[in-house]
Amino acid sequence: MCQAWWRVGSSCSLVIEKMKLHSLLFINLVICLGVGVLLVGVHCTESSSPPFACDSSDPLTESYAFCNTTLRISQRASDLISRLTLDEKISQLINSAASIPRLGIPAYEWWSEALHGIRDRHGIRFNGTIRSATSFPQVILTAASFDAHLWYRIGQAIGIETRAMYNAGQAMGMTFWAPNINIFRDPRWGRGQETPGEDPVVAGKYAVSYVRGLQGDCFEGGKVDVLQASACCKHFTAYDLDNWNGIDRYTFDARVTMQDLADTYQPPFRSCIEEGRASGLMCAYNRVNGVPNCADFNLLSKTVRGQWGFDGYIVSDCDAVSLVYDVQGYAKSPEDAVASVLTAGMDVDCGSYLQKHGKSAVMEKKLTESEIDRALLNLFTVRMRLGLFNGNPRKLPFGNIGPDQVCSTEHQTLALEAARNGIVLLKNSDRLLPLSKGETLSLAVIGPNANATDTLLGNYAGPPCKFISPLQGLQSYVNNTMYHSGCNDVACPSASIENAVDVAKQADYVVLVMGLDQTQEREKHDRLDLVLPGKQEQLITSVAKAAKKPVVLILLCGGPVDISFAKGNSNIGSILWAGYPGEAGGAAIAETIFGDHNPGGRLPVTWYPKDFIKIPMTDMRMRPEPPSGYPGRTYRFYTGEKVFEFGDGLSYSSYSYEFFSVTPNKLYLNQPSTAHVVENSSYVSVSELGTEFCEAKKFSAIIAVRNGGEMAGKHPVLLFVKQAKAGNGSPMKQLVGFQNVFLDAGESANVEFILSPCEHLSRANKDGLRVMEQGIHLLVVGDKEYPIAIVA
Ligand SMILES: *[C@@H]1O[C@H](CO)[C@@H](O)[C@H](O)[C@H]1NC(C)=O
Ligand SMILES: *[C@@H]1O[C@H](CO)[C@@H](O)[C@H](O)[C@H]1NC(C)=O
Ligand SMILES: *[C@@H]1O[C@H](CO)[C@@H](O)[C@H](O)[C@H]1NC(C)=O
Ligand SMILES: *[C@@H]1O[C@H](CO)[C@@H](O)[C@H](O)[C@H]1NC(C)=O
Ligand SMILES: *[C@@H]1O[C@H](CO)[C@@H](O)[C@H](O)[C@H]1NC(C)=O
Repeated sequence: MCQAWWRVGSSCSLVIEKMKLHSLLFINLVICLGVGVLLVGVHCTESSSPPFACDSSDPLTESYAFCNTTLRISQRASDLISRLTLDEKISQLINSAASIPRLGIPAYEWWSEALHGIRDRHGIRFNGTIRSATSFPQVILTAASFDAHLWYRIGQAIGIETRAMYNAGQAMGMTFWAPNINIFRDPRWGRGQETPGEDPVVAGKYAVSYVRGLQGDCFEGGKVDVLQASACCKHFTAYDLDNWNGIDRYTFDARVTMQDLADTYQPPFRSCIEEGRASGLMCAYNRVNGVPNCADFNLLSKTVRGQWGFDGYIVSDCDAVSLVYDVQGYAKSPEDAVASVLTAGMDVDCGSYLQKHGKSAVMEKKLTESEIDRALLNLFTVRMRLGLFNGNPRKLPFGNIGPDQVCSTEHQTLALEAARNGIVLLKNSDRLLPLSKGETLSLAVIGPNANATDTLLGNYAGPPCKFISPLQGLQSYVNNTMYHSGCNDVACPSASIENAVDVAKQADYVVLVMGLDQTQEREKHDRLDLVLPGKQEQLITSVAKAAKKPVVLILLCGGPVDISFAKGNSNIGSILWAGYPGEAGGAAIAETIFGDHNPGGRLPVTWYPKDFIKIPMTDMRMRPEPPSGYPGRTYRFYTGEKVFEFGDGLSYSSYSYEFFSVTPNKLYLNQPSTAHVVENSSYVSVSELGTEFCEAKKFSAIIAVRNGGEMAGKHPVLLFVKQAKAGNGSPMKQLVGFQNVFLDAGESANVEFILSPCEHLSRANKDGLRVMEQGIHLLVVGDKEYPIAIVA
């Protein structure tokens, strides 16, 4: 039996790993030790083999039903659970799940990260043959492309790189805790950069695309039971405050209305699960209306599993289970905390609390073993869907993916494409951009982010294949490039303004690369203001004033900054927002500046003025409350001044729209008996209309888009809906669809949107139920509107 373990492996690290599995069996240990030491001495190779169960060279494998791949996975998982002792069961309820040597089951690490590329930590090691992975732009920039197919391809590339890592023995798990799809509700949030922005439809589409790409799309011919890698929708729910003004995510109790929950906080998660078929979900640290997310039966079991049909595993955010008792005082003892999360429907604890207190909870009869079995069924099902119980993984559909598929030309080009397509042109006075390649003989590149490398990646990044800083990118266009950092770092407590000004004066054109980095916005750190840090503004205006021509301002940042000063300054000709653009970011920026790329990105968040910070970050209300001066949040509700709006984004071309055809312009509900009159408008509940009615009433809106400029470009078309007379907490407008179209100069094309009145012309009422209101609803694209009347 011992021999079976190391026979498949070729490296010493494998032997050592397998030996650990046998540590309970003294005889085996001794034999293995002998052989292992021998092997270590004789042939240590760089690569190691991936961990897997059900090795066919182990004679016992044939007797295990859980190894029998002709059986259904649910049967196999149940069989496995029936063989486990209570201690073994409890050892599986934490992220570092122990090996079960007597059954040939290796250890499993549930915790791995791949927010925008594979990160090196926990389940993932870059210490073997593979030393780096493709680092895509931080999600907030990728979102700005409004390109669901691009998001899908990024997920797919990360999934392929994961299999290469696993095959090379560098992945102890393939369950990634991404995407982060919380709504970017407040501009100060340190983790807003990780999300697809403030709109629930965008966040939902992003989730579906990324999850399907990463997991391997069973909707396009793949098998439902097979996962390329596992994605996890996080952080469920209403989590979007890390540490602001002394209030942190561990203690925060988010007070959320049913209406906001229904049309803002929950929709991305619902899409991620129902349409994306994500195999993982993470419950968040915070409480929602008093109840810790991980201990909320209504959320985890009734809503997610019951209503949305979730069939994956639910993990706690790290150490969230301990908070339930230790910090939040929601449970009366550690055992009560453990019982509360498992009975709520959570399956695995990122941490060790369940390991420590699980058994005593059973002994004290606070927790039944069947509750543990329920969780284990979800956990082993996911491991089996990943193919980890099918014997030698070389045979699996992903077994032939080699290290050459990591950082491949294809993936690196995709990272560049994502950066290009996300970059947003916010200002371009007198068509300063693009700069002429032939006529720009000298260039000054100034600012603390000008030669940025790590900053390009944002947080949750792994080691990238390479870096191209903005300076390097620009140097490839202009030989005579002068560089000055202006400030020592992004915080910029002091600036060497005179020196920077001298450099600027010598150049034909000046590019300033400013903004934020992880010292300003990050996990556990929300911002306290919305302005550029330190002396950055002073540096920008001084350089702009001294330069020969209006300057180009590039902002690297995840969350928005109030740059009204630059918007209105005629010495600043152009402004580009480049998020954190990933490993190829500098190339994408340079290509955009010199016109090898026509920018098409559009802002995925509202850019608020700096006085927005007088609103407490803890106020979760989306809707404005005029009597108290509360302005509401995001483009859907915020009533105050804006620096830039959601969807803003210029191009070197100009695009125009026409409604080409829309059917119908009247929509009859035919259900007058169910219409209710409330606050002077009558409405019908969508659930009363029924799915058959909703399906039958789907309609098409075709929009003609024309590129009236002189340059070809890719353009995201955003279609909104608004009610002519918005009331009852309706959004001012709501994005209902977006599609990209590539158009040559002077070219036109039709873009079709299929809309469902029940989904797109309805709103959430105060109870969180979707209702359709009589009256005029307007489809809106650019400056064009098309009315549709809803009639009883
Ligand atoms: C696997 O299960 C199938 C279906 O029950 C059974 O026919 C087959 O004999 C099993 N294989 C082994 C090796 O036990
Ligand atoms: C890589 O790191 C892991 C965890 O520290 C270790 O177990 C493994 O042996 C290392 N592999 C190599 C090839 O150094
Ligand atoms: C830019 O950064 C790179 C990488 O950190 C460094 O090698 C290079 O010297 C820097 N360039 C300048 C001009 O400082
Ligand atoms: C930059 O320098 C190289 C080598 O001296 C030269 O071949 C190239 O044409 C120059 N490029 C520009 C834009 O001047
Ligand atoms: C409803 O209509 C009445 C009479 O026209 C008006 O006084 C009242 O303000 C309206 N209520 C709302 C909520 O619009």
